[in-house]
Amino acid sequence: MSANSRPPIPRDAGIASIGLNFPPLAMPVEELARLRGQDPAKYTVGLGCQEMALCTPEYGVVELAVEAARRALERWGGDPADVGMIAVGTETAMDMSRPLSAWVAERLDLRGAVRSYEVKHACYGGTLALRQAVEWKLSGASQGRAALVLAADVALYAEGDPGEPTQGAGAVAMVVDEPSIARVDPVSYPWSEPAFDFWRPVGEAYPRVDGAFSLDCYKRAAENCFKALVNGGSAEEVLERAAAVCFHVPFPKMVKKAVVQVGRSFGWDEERIDRFFADKVEPSMQWNRRCGNAYTASLWISVAEALRGLPRDERVLAFSYGSGFGAELLLLEAGPEAAAGAWASDVETDLAARHRVDAARYGSLRS
Ligand code: CAA
Repeated sequence: MSANSRPPIPRDAGIASIGLNFPPLAMPVEELARLRGQDPAKYTVGLGCQEMALCTPEYGVVELAVEAARRALERWGGDPADVGMIAVGTETAMDMSRPLSAWVAERLDLRGAVRSYEVKHACYGGTLALRQAVEWKLSGASQGRAALVLAADVALYAEGDPGEPTQGAGAVAMVVDEPSIARVDPVSYPWSEPAFDFWRPVGEAYPRVDGAFSLDCYKRAAENCFKALVNGGSAEEVLERAAAVCFHVPFPKMVKKAVVQVGRSFGWDEERIDRFFADKVEPSMQWNRRCGNAYTASLWISVAEALRGLPRDERVLAFSYGSGFGAELLLLEAGPEAAAGAWASDVETDLAARHRVDAARYGSLRS
C-alpha cells in the first residue's frame, strides 16, 4: 500500500464491541466458610464477597477467552479478516513462551497479517493490552484494522490460604476500533513502584501474597492516580462528572478501602466518602460479586457493567492495578451503542447456566 492510499489516521478510538464469559461452576463463599471453619460474615461482610466462579478441567482459561472473543467478534459484526492485532492480558499463562493469544487464534481461525501476543503485568495486563490497541489505532499503524483485546484469568489460591474466598474466574473481550460503545481517552494517569506484594515464582501453582502489604500498595497507587487526574483542581467537580468509577476488584471491601484513602486525600469526610462509594462505585461491582476476582478481567467486568445502559458522552473512570506493582487510571466516554448494553446478555446467560458447587465437589475439583 502506498503512503497516499493509506486510510486516514482516526481521531478517536475505543471499544466497538464487548463479549464476556464466566465459567460453568460457582460456590457461595458461605459454603467455603463452613468448610474452613470460619464465620461466613468474615467473607461476606469483612471481605464483601458473594460467590467464587470456578472452572472445570475441561473449561479453563482458554475456553473462557475463546468464548468471550467469539461473542465480541459476533456482536461487532466486522470481518474477522479485518482484525490486525490480538493482545491477551493474563496471569494464567499456558506456557512460558507460547502466548495465550495463539490458543485463541487457533480456535477462532484468526491468522495472517496479525500481531498476536500476550501481555503480563499481574492484574494490569488486560489494561495494558487495551492501551496498546488504542494507541496502535491512534498512531495510524493499524491501517484501518481492528484489535481484539482480551483479559482472561482463573484465580486460585492454595487450599486454606486467606485469599481463598476471593477466588474467581472470567474473561472479557473487546474489539478496539470505532468507539461505538466507549471512547478511550488517549491521556491516562499511570503510577508504578517495584514491590513484591503478590507474585508467582516460575513453576509454582499458586501465588505468594503479602496480603497487608498488597492492600497498602493498591491504596497508594489509587491515591496517586486520582491525584494526578484531579491535578490540583476540584476533586468534587472532576469525580462527580463521572457516571461511574470502576476499580480492579480483588474483593469488594478492598475497593471500599481504596475509596476511603482517595477520599481522605481530598479532605472528604466519612459521609461524603460513603455517598461517593454508594453512588459511583458500588453499583458496577455486582457482576464482580458473582464471579470473584478474575484478575486481569476484574476491572473490565466492572467497566462492562458500568457502560451497560449508559447515555452517550457519559464518563466512566477505570482504575487498573497489577501487583508488582503498576497502576493506571483511564477515562472512557460512552458511545451511541452503550445504551443498548448488548453484552449484558452474556452475563445473564452464563449465570443462569452455571451449577452450584458444594464442599464435596469443591474438594474433588481441587484434588
Ligand atoms: N465478621 C465480619 N467481619 C470480619 C469477621 C467476622 N466474623 N472476621 C473478620 N472480619 C473482617 C476483618 O475485621 C477484616 O476487615 P477490615 O480489613 O475492614 O478490618 C476483614 O474481615 C478481613 O479480615 P483479615 O484481615 O483478618 O483477613 P485475612 O488476614 O484472612 O486476609 C486478605 C484477607 C487480604 C483477602 C488476604 O487473604 C489476601 O492476602 N488476599 C489476596 C491478596 C489480595 O487480594 N490483595 C489485594 C491487592 S493485590 C491485587 O490486586 C492483585 C490481585 O488481584 C490478587
